[in-house]
Amino acid sequence: MHPTPNNALPGRWQPLAHAVAQACLPQPTSKILQAAGLHIDLSAQYGSPDITAAAQALLDEHNFNARRNALLNGDTANPTELRAAWHTALRAAAPNRDVAHERQRMMDFVHLADAERQWRNVIHIGIGGSDWGVRLAVAAFGYAGTWRTVRFAANIDGHAMAGAMAGLDPRDTLIVVASKSFTTTETLENAQRAIEWLAGAGVADPYRHIVAITACPDKALAWGAHPGHIFKFWEWVGGRFSIWSSVGLTIALAVGIDTLAGLHAGAAALDNHFATAPVPENAPVQMAIAAAINRNILGYGSHNIAPYDHRLGHLVPYLQQLEMESLGKSVDINGNPAGLATGAAVWGMPGTDAQHTFFQWLHQSSDGCPVDFIVCQHADHTWAQHHTRLVANCLAQREALLNGKTPHNAHQDGLAEGLPPQRAQQLAPHRSHAGGRPSNLIVLRELSPYSLGALLALYEHKTFTLGVLWNINPFDQWGVEHGKTLAAGIFRSLSQPGAPTGNHDASTLYWLKALQHTTTT
Ligand code: F6P
Repeated sequence: MHPTPNNALPGRWQPLAHAVAQACLPQPTSKILQAAGLHIDLSAQYGSPDITAAAQALLDEHNFNARRNALLNGDTANPTELRAAWHTALRAAAPNRDVAHERQRMMDFVHLADAERQWRNVIHIGIGGSDWGVRLAVAAFGYAGTWRTVRFAANIDGHAMAGAMAGLDPRDTLIVVASKSFTTTETLENAQRAIEWLAGAGVADPYRHIVAITACPDKALAWGAHPGHIFKFWEWVGGRFSIWSSVGLTIALAVGIDTLAGLHAGAAALDNHFATAPVPENAPVQMAIAAAINRNILGYGSHNIAPYDHRLGHLVPYLQQLEMESLGKSVDINGNPAGLATGAAVWGMPGTDAQHTFFQWLHQSSDGCPVDFIVCQHADHTWAQHHTRLVANCLAQREALLNGKTPHNAHQDGLAEGLPPQRAQQLAPHRSHAGGRPSNLIVLRELSPYSLGALLALYEHKTFTLGVLWNINPFDQWGVEHGKTLAAGIFRSLSQPGAPTGNHDASTLYWLKALQHTTTT
C-alpha cells in the first residue's frame, strides 16, 4: 500500500513525504532495534533508506544533536520557562551531589520505616506527574498485593479522598503529599482533608504523619510540614518526569527500594542508547520519525497504546500526560505558528480488554490509527497457557491491522465455513479489512523495574525528538494554566452568595447561578 504525498506540508518536509510515497508497508525486511534490553520492532511502519535520509535532514535542520546535548547536559532545554529539563540527571548511575544526597535521605526514611514495620498504610496525594508514575509502578509491581495498603487521591472530587481514607487506621497511616509547585489546589485540598482526618482521630501532631515532596520546600515548611519530612526535587525536573525524583518515595514504601533502583538503571541505560546510537538504530528517534510520518504524512490524528499486560493498566494515562502535555502545542519555539500538525491524541487500554472495547474501530473504521503493541516474553505467573494466549492475541491483532483481509479472501473464508455462496458474497465486504495500519511492537523480556524504566525513557526521548522535528517546546504546558485560573474565579463565584463575578458567556453565567446553591450542600 502506498500513501499519497501530502502537498500541504512545508517544503522541508516534502522529501520525507515523497520517500514515504515510494515505500511500502510492511517493510520488505524486518526492522527490529534493541535498546536497554527492549526489542522495538518497526517493521510495520513506513521505512526505507530514503525515509531515513529525509528524516535525518529534518533532524539536522532543527539541530537535533545540539538540542539532545542540551537536554542531557542540563542546559536550558525549556526556553519558555528558561529551565533545564534534566530528568536524566535523577537516574544517572553517578548522580551529582545534591541528587545523591536527597536520594540517600529518602532511602534512609524508607529503610527506617521498613525496619520498624511502620506505616501499615500510605495515602499518596498528588496529581498529574506527581501521581501517574507512582500509580503505574505500584500497580506494575504490587499487582498481587503489598504488605502496606497503598491508596491514591488525585481528583478534587471528594469521593477520591473519602475512598482513599475509608477503612484505614489513621494512627498507622502515612500521608505522602507530592506536588512540585506545592500550590496545586487538588493536592492541597486533599492534604487538608487528611490532616483533619488525622486530627479527628486524636493524632496529636498530624504533621508527623505527613511527608511533603516538592521543588518548593519553603512552601511545604510554611504549610506545616516538618523539615525532616520534606524531600525536595528541583525546578529543572518537569512535573511529568517526577517519577524519577523523590516522588518515587511511595514506590519504595509500597514495592521496595530496589524497585526504584531498577527503574533508574533501566532508564539510564536507555538514556545512554539515546545519546550514543546512530540515528538509523536509535530506537526513540526511529519511533519519533515513524510517529511524524503517521501524523504529518498519513494524517492520523491519534495514536493507540495497547500494553498486552494487565499490570500496565496505568501506562496509558502516564503516556497520555507525557505525550499530550508535551506535544499539544500550536506554535514553534519562537512563537510562530508550527505550520504543521503536532502531537496526536494518545489513548488506549491493556489488551485483551481493549479488543472487546474499541479494536473494532481500529480494524474497520474509516479512520483507524497507529498502535503500539507492548508485550512481555515471560510472565510472572505460572499459567503458561494464559500467557501464550495473551501473546497470540497481541501478534494476531497486529497482523490483522497490518495485512487486513481482501474481499476475495473474506468470500473464500465464508465458503470454507460452509455458508451458501450468495451469503458468503453478501458478507464479504463486511468481513474484509483494509489493513495497512501502522504499528510498533515493543517486546520486554519480562516486566521488571529495569525494563519498565527503559520503556518510560524510550517514550520520553521519542517525545523529545518529536518536539525537535516539529520545532516546538515539549517541556511547557501553558494551556493547562488558563483553565486553572478560570476555575479559581468560578470557584469564588460558586462559593459566595450573590451575583457571580467576572466576565462569563451566557451559558456559563446560567450555570453559575443554577449551581451556586447546590454545590455546597
Ligand atoms: O497538569 C499540569 C501540571 O502542572 C503537571 O505538569 C503536573 O504534573 C501537575 O500539574 C501537578 O503539579 P504539581 O506537582 O506542581 O502539583
